[in-house]
Amino acid sequence: MRLASYALLALSAATAALSLPSRQHQFPLVLPSPANTIENSRDEAYWASEEGVGHFSQWSKAQKRNFVDDVRDGKASEWILVMGNEGGDLDSMTAALTWSYHLSHQHADTNKTIALLQTPRDALDLRPENKLALRNVLMSPGHRDLLTIDELPLPAEEIAEQLKSIVLVDHPAPLSVWQKAKIRSIFDHHRDRGAAPDAKPRLFEGTASCTTIVARTMLDELERRKEGEYHMPHEVVELILDAIALDSDGLSKGTPADKFTAARLLKRSNWSKQKLYDVMDRLDSEMKKAKKDLEELGVRDLLRRDWKGDLVETPEGRPNVHLGLASIPISLEDQIERTLHNTTQAWFVTEEKWSEEIGADITLALNSFKERDSHNKKIKTREIVLVVRPNDKLTEKDSDELFQIISNAVEQSPFLDAQPWKRAKELTARQMVWTHHIASGGRKLIRPIVEDAVAAWRL
Ligand SMILES: *[C@@H]1O[C@H](CO)[C@@H](O)[C@H](O)[C@H]1NC(C)=O
Ligand SMILES: *[C@@H]1O[C@H](CO)[C@@H](O)[C@H](O)[C@H]1NC(C)=O
Ligand SMILES: *[C@@H]1O[C@H](CO)[C@@H](O)[C@H](O)[C@H]1NC(C)=O
Repeated sequence: MRLASYALLALSAATAALSLPSRQHQFPLVLPSPANTIENSRDEAYWASEEGVGHFSQWSKAQKRNFVDDVRDGKASEWILVMGNEGGDLDSMTAALTWSYHLSHQHADTNKTIALLQTPRDALDLRPENKLALRNVLMSPGHRDLLTIDELPLPAEEIAEQLKSIVLVDHPAPLSVWQKAKIRSIFDHHRDRGAAPDAKPRLFEGTASCTTIVARTMLDELERRKEGEYHMPHEVVELILDAIALDSDGLSKGTPADKFTAARLLKRSNWSKQKLYDVMDRLDSEMKKAKKDLEELGVRDLLRRDWKGDLVETPEGRPNVHLGLASIPISLEDQIERTLHNTTQAWFVTEEKWSEEIGADITLALNSFKERDSHNKKIKTREIVLVVRPNDKLTEKDSDELFQIISNAVEQSPFLDAQPWKRAKELTARQMVWTHHIASGGRKLIRPIVEDAVAAWRL
């Protein structure tokens, strides 16, 4: 039994537009204030406010407006949606924006293409590096020029059936709500899960940044155009360079494709007279500095700023399980200090509220941070926080079993060296925290280990 796909847990509080018939409990509807929602988008006021001044912003806003109007008028079938993954990092966002810009300028029959960010609009600012990169390319500060998941005019499942097609970037398989959509293309640097074998192009490559794959394909097609190049705004080029710089640590890691693509882009940017490595190093530092600025965020925001999750299909007779994984670049102790009373269980109370809000049955927080080892050397430490709770879907026995199954998978994995957290005494039933030091031991590694264990559901 493999997972059907990856859905929907990313759609957080603001996910009012989605109807979720398969869910036992509904998402609570925390709506943005009415004047701010796309519900009122026939209103000129919605579109007139918060103008981004860049060319790219204006193009993006026009596409969004046409898309929303067309979907309302029953013409969703004319549109191609380009979507990144629901974690919504700079790479995912940039890859989606880049490819949608390209497709909508490349062919007349794909000019109705738009990027969908699978992050709610109010969560975009939880990634300060995205905010900075967007500001640098003159996008609007309130993100009204971007289409986010909570602003779809119809439930995703309904739109999925109508669309001309979707394109996945930085994302190997569609979330379960998009399952009925036709997949036109995939560009990714995750593990290939075999989705959409007929997609064209269907590119999986181990680049540092997925945006590299998208941008290289775009440049190849742009430079081969018989009718001459369409206008490539420097804003798009610079946004792409930001994304590649951040993921490749200023080109100090990655593949030759990251470097060659960055070099081609640099020539088209405002920095064409400068040296490639100087520029990439500068952009990387700028983005990294912004990215670290999470001082103000509380535990709930830390959990939701980089959250991925979906339904895992389990064997016959077992309930399917919503599994959610948060990546957090801060230690659990530091997060606990951000709770009102600085107690471990206060952290779990916040985690429980968030899990309930998003509908997750099993939650993992994957923390990473630097600390000093016994020789006073700085090392990267990682933590895996696991919680399983009984709810109206999982009985006490189910929860105990799942907790045990996942614990075994983590503790016995040959790819991990998990040790119990030093304050494990403070944990209660079906809560566990491990630390480990596997450099590449982030969500890309942990998620398949946990999903495979849950999908098999064998003690
Ligand atoms: C898309 O291209 C067609 C054919 O060239 C044109 O008529 C239409 O106005 C274009 N639409 C957009 C949104 O640019
Ligand atoms: C980048 O270059 C364009 C065109 O050459 C120019 O209009 C723009 O002001 C420049 N932007 C920055 C931030 O230097
Ligand atoms: C929070 O609790 C930990 C462990 O109990 C303690 O070491 C730390 O000093 C406390 N921090 C604050 C800000 O009270």
